[in-house]
Amino acid sequence: MNTARTVAEVRAAVRAARAAGKTVGFVPTMGAFHAGHLSLMRRARERSGFVVVSLFVNPAQFNDPSDLAAYPRDERADAAMAGAEGVDLLFAPEAAELYAPGHATTVIVRGLSDVLEGAARGAAHFHGVTTIVAKLFNVVQPDVAFFGQKDAQQALIVRRMARDLDFPLAIEVRPTVREADGLAMSSRNVRLTGHDRRRALALRAGLTAAERAIAAGERDGARIAEAAAATMRERGVAPEYFALVSADTLEPVDPLAGRILVAVAAPVGPVRLIDNVIVDLTA
Ligand code: PAJ
Repeated sequence: MNTARTVAEVRAAVRAARAAGKTVGFVPTMGAFHAGHLSLMRRARERSGFVVVSLFVNPAQFNDPSDLAAYPRDERADAAMAGAEGVDLLFAPEAAELYAPGHATTVIVRGLSDVLEGAARGAAHFHGVTTIVAKLFNVVQPDVAFFGQKDAQQALIVRRMARDLDFPLAIEVRPTVREADGLAMSSRNVRLTGHDRRRALALRAGLTAAERAIAAGERDGARIAEAAAATMRERGVAPEYFALVSADTLEPVDPLAGRILVAVAAPVGPVRLIDNVIVDLTA
């Protein structure tokens, strides 16, 4: 596996792969790889002749400077893991390579960026995500890009951006990879210890409570959210939000019908965690 630091190096490597008749698969990341990231790389390897992974902790999408400062970074370990998955090229640029002085352009997906995580963290978070993902799509020019369902709203926003701006690529969203006890894998989990690690299971417990209520026939989203939040509080975690919304538009649905995204965010010790499930009521 090669590591590229510049846009020019990536373009040259991708041009060579294309000249050799290969399709290009792309996995954007912020590093600190875990099994969730690796599942995306494995899928990209299966589907493409040339696999590019980007590793860039994008300052523009962090609303909290202490979260950015504490974000785990270990390029050496990440490169070893990506290499073991058969990744062809790791793109790990310095910030100045992607944000030249005077950088003045932002890509904004209106509406979808303003709710849930956008409301909790500020819409600038997703503006940062869509701007960097648009740039990376232009640099790598992949045939397929891979995203995780763990960040359901991000995946939806990136899909909408790609459609609205006619990016010539497909987007594949892959299932959330979890620890054996159900905790969704996250780079931030390394900062959870002892009591906090156990309390982190409250998110999954809240989602399971919501799924059970829906399976039992409840269709009142507000009632389900309240009961799920109570389940979480019993486990010592207060949700920042617990929402049941349309999985396609992120708008409230009352009574529940169609594909429902059940999404939760909560602070646990030093970190803020998110998780979600989709419940399909279309049948
Ligand atoms: P990062 O948090 O590093 O995640 C990179 C990709 O891995 C995202 O598509 C994310 O949804 C996916 N992922 C994270 N945890 C996962 C899990 N437990 N199971 C499956 N997939 C998982 O998301 C970002 O980086 C950034 O916002 C980025 C898109 C790179 C733009 O900066």
